[in-house]
Formats: sequence, C-alpha cells, structure tokens
Amino acid sequence: MTDPIFFTDVGPRDGLQNQPKILSVEERLRLIEAIASAGVRSIEVGSFVSPRAVPAMAGTDQVVASLPADDDVSYSALIPNMKGYQLAMDAGVRTVNMVLYASEGMARKNVNMSVAEAEQATLDILACAREDGIDVVAAVATSFFCPFDGPTDPGMVRDITARFIDQGLQQIVLADTIGAANPGEVRALTADLVQAHGAEHIGCHFHDTRAMGMANVFAALESGIRHFDGSIAGLGGCPFAPGASGNVASEDVVMMLEQMGCDTGIDLEALLAASDLAEELTGTAPGGRAKAWLQPWLAKQNTRS
Ligand code: COA
Ligand code: ZN
Repeated sequence: MTDPIFFTDVGPRDGLQNQPKILSVEERLRLIEAIASAGVRSIEVGSFVSPRAVPAMAGTDQVVASLPADDDVSYSALIPNMKGYQLAMDAGVRTVNMVLYASEGMARKNVNMSVAEAEQATLDILACAREDGIDVVAAVATSFFCPFDGPTDPGMVRDITARFIDQGLQQIVLADTIGAANPGEVRALTADLVQAHGAEHIGCHFHDTRAMGMANVFAALESGIRHFDGSIAGLGGCPFAPGASGNVASEDVVMMLEQMGCDTGIDLEALLAASDLAEELTGTAPGGRAKAWLQPWLAKQNTRS
C-alpha cells in the first residue's frame, strides 16, 4: 500500500469552531503555520458563516489575508451560502468547502435550510466558482447517522454523490458528523462509491466519538479511499450536532497510514509539535493517542543520531 494520501487538516475550522476558548487571529495563524510546516498540503483555515452562529470563526477574512503565500498548500474555507462565497472571494480564498445534507434535521439545525435549499445554494456557488476558477469541495453531512433523524439511508448518500459529481464537483467528502458510523457500514458505502465514481472523487471525514474513528479510516482505506480529513490534536465537534466530539486526530491518522506504507508527505515529528501547540492554545484539545508513544521514541532516536 504505497499510494499517495491526500490529507486535509480541518482543525483550524472544525476543531476551533466548537472550543470554549475563542482563539485570536494571531493564535489561529500560529496553529495553521505549524500544521503547514509539518508538510500538510491542505488545510481548512476557517469559515465564512454568521458570526452570531459561530463566534469562534469571526475574523476568518483576517486569517486568510495573513496566510503566507505558498502555492504548495491549499488553504480552504467553509461557506454555507452565497454571502459566504462573496466574503471568501473578497478575502482571496481559492478553495471553498460546501456542506450537503443527508438529513433534513441536520440541514435545518446547521444552516436553517432544507436539504433542497442547501443543494441549490451549492449548485449556485458551483456555477460562480466555475466562472471564477475556484475549486469547490462538498461534504455530505450526516452521511451515516443524524442526531435528529437517526440512521441515514445509504441510498440517499449514493444519490447525492452521483448528482453532484454529474454537476462537475471534483470531490465529495463523506462526513460522519457526530462519529456514529461503524467500520462495516463505512466499508460498504465507500466500496460502492469508489466503484461507481473512482477513489479520486471520494474522501472521508470521521469523528472519534465512540472510539471507532481509526477503524473507520482503515475500512475506507481498504475500499480504496485515499483522501482523509483529520484534525490536529483531535480537536473538533459541531456546535449544532449534539453528541459530536473531536475528529480523528491528524497525528493518529498520519501515523497509521505511514506505518502501513502509505505516503502522506507529512513529517510526523513536526505534526506532533503542531499538536502540542493546539493543546497549549486551546487548553481542551484531547491530543491524539500517537503522541504519548511517539514523542519519547522520536526524542530517543534524535539523541542517538
Ligand atoms: N457570513 C456572515 N454572515 C452571514 C452569512 C455568512 N455566510 N450569511 C448570512 N449572514 C448574516 C446575515 O447578513 C444576517 O445578518 P444580520 O442579522 O446582521 O442582518 C444574519 O447572518 C442572518 O442571516 P439569514 O440569511 O437570515 O440567515 P439565518 O439566520 O437563517 O442563518 C446561516 C443561516 C447559514 C447564515 C447560519 O445558520 C450560519 O452561519 N450557519 C453556519 C453553521 C456552521 O458553521 N456550522 C458548522 C459547520 S458545518
Ligand atoms: Zn466534522
């Protein structure tokens, strides 16, 4: 298994949006720079959403304006509607992340829209983005389970994915919004979608609420998925999805993939330093499981060499 992995760290958005402590623009930038300097080539740096809905993401325009010019790194931002798209364009964002919904309950609670309205917003933005030369990635929220509507019909996710790939979306990310998926259903759905559309178009975004996050990564990997999201130090959780806890920790995902022979292009030691910084800045990041074992081991290796 030597395939290259396309890894996105969503910590500065999915992670920080739900922390009790709101970080300053400077602190958010320090975290993003630490993640980038570990070799992570795709980072979700914030969102352009109502600051009343998500106060921690206010100032994302200032974050984007201060990012280092680095053509090797894709800095993306989440947007829920055309206003968000316009704000993201004004700030200079080149990749926008949209959310589609596999349940009415989640769409209503998260963005006060129906599933159909959120789909229309995505279609409208796709049309603008095509004109503007902007990349669009869409996640399907509650791809496996919704805290309001219960288990998701996999047929609905298959249908959304097919329709939006037909509309020209290059990347659909299956999001287990509250960390309720199990590896069996992950394997079944990802295998279907990889067969139907090719692995290059499908990604996975797992939360680790019930300790199945890494098993879900592995199940998706076995189906051929090579695009994964993780969050530095396991930060995460959606303020509008009861039960959502941290994402799978980036350092754990990267450690597992590298040890299995996949090429992430990420320097684990530097990623652990970014994880330390996430813990220091937030005071609440759980930190991945990799660190306790890996950091002393790497320190010993370094003193030997
Ligand atoms: N960015 C900033 N402000 C926005 C905005 C955006 N993308 N979209 C709308 N607004 C502002 C409006 O201008 C309005 O401001 P005002 O009250 O000062 O006039 C206010 O937000 C409400 O706008 P409205 O269109 O009535 O939206 P709403 O109240 O139905 O809320 C969303 C809809 C989408 C704006 C809001 O639910 C939201 O931002 N959700 C994001 C949730 C999120 O980030 N979840 C986690 C990630 S999945
Ligand atoms: Zn998430």
